[in-house]
Amino acid sequence: MRSVFIHTFGCQMNVRDSERIMTSLAEHGHAPADTPPQADCIILNTCAIRKKAEEKVYSLLGRLEKRKLRDPDLLLAVCGCVAEQEGDLLLRRFPGLDLVLGTHHITRIPELIQKVEQGERICAVGSRSDQERLEGYVHTRRDPSISTFVTIMEGCNNWCSYCVVPSLRGREVCRPPEDITREVKELAGLGFREVTLIGQNVNSYRSENGAGFARLLHSVAEIPEILRIRFATSHPKDISPELIQAFLKIPVLAHHIHLPVQSGSNHILKRMNRRYTREEYLEKIHCLRESCPDIAITTDMIIGFPGETPADFEQTMDLLNEVRFDGSFSFCFSPRPNTRAETFPDRIDEHTARIRLQKYQARQDEITLAKNRELVGQKLMVLAEQDRDSGTSMGTSALTGRTSTNKIVHFLGRKDLIGFLVPVRITKAATHSLKGSVGESVFRAHPN
Ligand code: SAH
Ligand code: SF4
Ligand code: F3S
Repeated sequence: MRSVFIHTFGCQMNVRDSERIMTSLAEHGHAPADTPPQADCIILNTCAIRKKAEEKVYSLLGRLEKRKLRDPDLLLAVCGCVAEQEGDLLLRRFPGLDLVLGTHHITRIPELIQKVEQGERICAVGSRSDQERLEGYVHTRRDPSISTFVTIMEGCNNWCSYCVVPSLRGREVCRPPEDITREVKELAGLGFREVTLIGQNVNSYRSENGAGFARLLHSVAEIPEILRIRFATSHPKDISPELIQAFLKIPVLAHHIHLPVQSGSNHILKRMNRRYTREEYLEKIHCLRESCPDIAITTDMIIGFPGETPADFEQTMDLLNEVRFDGSFSFCFSPRPNTRAETFPDRIDEHTARIRLQKYQARQDEITLAKNRELVGQKLMVLAEQDRDSGTSMGTSALTGRTSTNKIVHFLGRKDLIGFLVPVRITKAATHSLKGSVGESVFRAHPN
C-alpha cells in the first residue's frame, strides 16, 4: 500500500480530477500523504495550456527523479493534459517515471499501480467511452470546506485555433442532470454551502433529453442548503437568453460571470476561431447588465496573438476600457503543438507581446482597484469561511469569504458564522481583496 501525494497544476477540472484519483486510490487501500517527502508515490496532475505550464512539470519531474536515485522505491506518475499530449515520449525522456495516464484514464490508476508494482512501466492514453470518462464523480473524497467544484461536463468541441484542450480532453460529454443534483445534495449534507459548476464550456451543457444549462441551474438551486451557485467557464457564443434570465430568476445564483473574450479585435477573433464578433460580445454584456445590474464580469485575454497589429491591440485596450472588467486572466500567446495557430507565420516577437501585456495588466489593475473602492461603505453578503492565513484572537476568528460578485473579503467574526451568509460592511479596498467588519449584533449572535 502506498502513501500518495498529488501535485495539481492547471484548471479547476484538474482539482476535481485529483480528488477522483485520490478517492479511487483510497478505495484500494492507499492513503494520502500530507507532504511530498512523506509520500512513496508522487503523482503530477498536469496542464499543457501554455508552454510555461508544461515546463513546470518537467522541472519538478527532474527533481523527483533525483530523489528516486536515493529512494528507488518511489513510484512516479504523470497524469492529465501533459500526459495525454506527450504519451510514451515521457517514459523515454524520464527513465525514473513509472506511469503515464492520459485524461480519460485517471480512474484506472489503482489497477495500473498494481502492474507497476510487478515491474512494468506503463503508458495509458487515448480516448475511452463516455461512460468510462464520467466514472468516479459521485462519492469523491474532498477536504471539508464551505465551497467546492462540481464537474458537469468534460471536453470541448470548439477548436479555438490556439488551444490544446479539444485534442487533450476530447469531445464534449455531459453528465446526466440527476447525477449532478445527487452529488450536490450529498455535498450539502456534508456541510458544503456553495458549489461552482465547472466544465470547459458550461453553457453548451445539454442533458440527454435536450435540457440546457439554465434548466440545470434551476434544478441545483432547488437544493435548500446550497446558499450560492457559481459556474465556469462560459463561451460568449453560447450565452442564451435563458441563462441571462437565470440571473433574475434564481436568487442563489452568484452575480458573477467569467466570460473569456480573448481579444478586442474582430480580425484576431476570427483567426482565433472564436465565432463571435466584438460587437456580439458587447451586446451580450449589455444584456447581462440589464438583467443583473451589479453583475461582476471577468475575462481571459490572449495578448500578442499572431498577426496582432498595434491597432488590434488598441482595440483590446479599448474593449477593456469599455466593459471595465472586474478582473482578467491575461497571458502572452504561447504556440502549442498540433494547434492551427502554431503554424501561423506572422508571430509577434516576445518583447513586443510582453510590453503589450504589461500595459494591459496595469490598466486592468487600475480598473479593478477603482471598482473595489466603489464598494467601500456598502454592506455586502459574504459567505463566511475560515481565513486559513490568519489565527484566532480573543474569541474572534479571522474569517474570509466572497461576495456574490466574487470579491474576496477579510473580516473578524465569531467562528460560528462560518458557512453562513453574513452582512459585512466594506471598510478598505485593495486590488485583490477587500477588508470589512460585521455589526455588533452579528458579531455576537449566531446567525440563526
Ligand atoms: N474553455 C475556456 C478556457 C479554457 S483555457 C474558454 O474557452 O474560455 C483557459 C485560458 O487559457 C483561455 O481562455 C485562454 O485565454 C488561455 N489560453 C489557451 N490557450 C492558450 C495559448 N496557446 N496561449 C496563451 N493563452 C492560452
Ligand atoms: Fe480551448 Fe476554445 Fe475550448 Fe476554451 S472554448 S477550451 S479556449 S478550444
Ligand atoms: Fe490545463 Fe488541461 Fe485544464 S491543459 S487548463 S489542465 S484542461
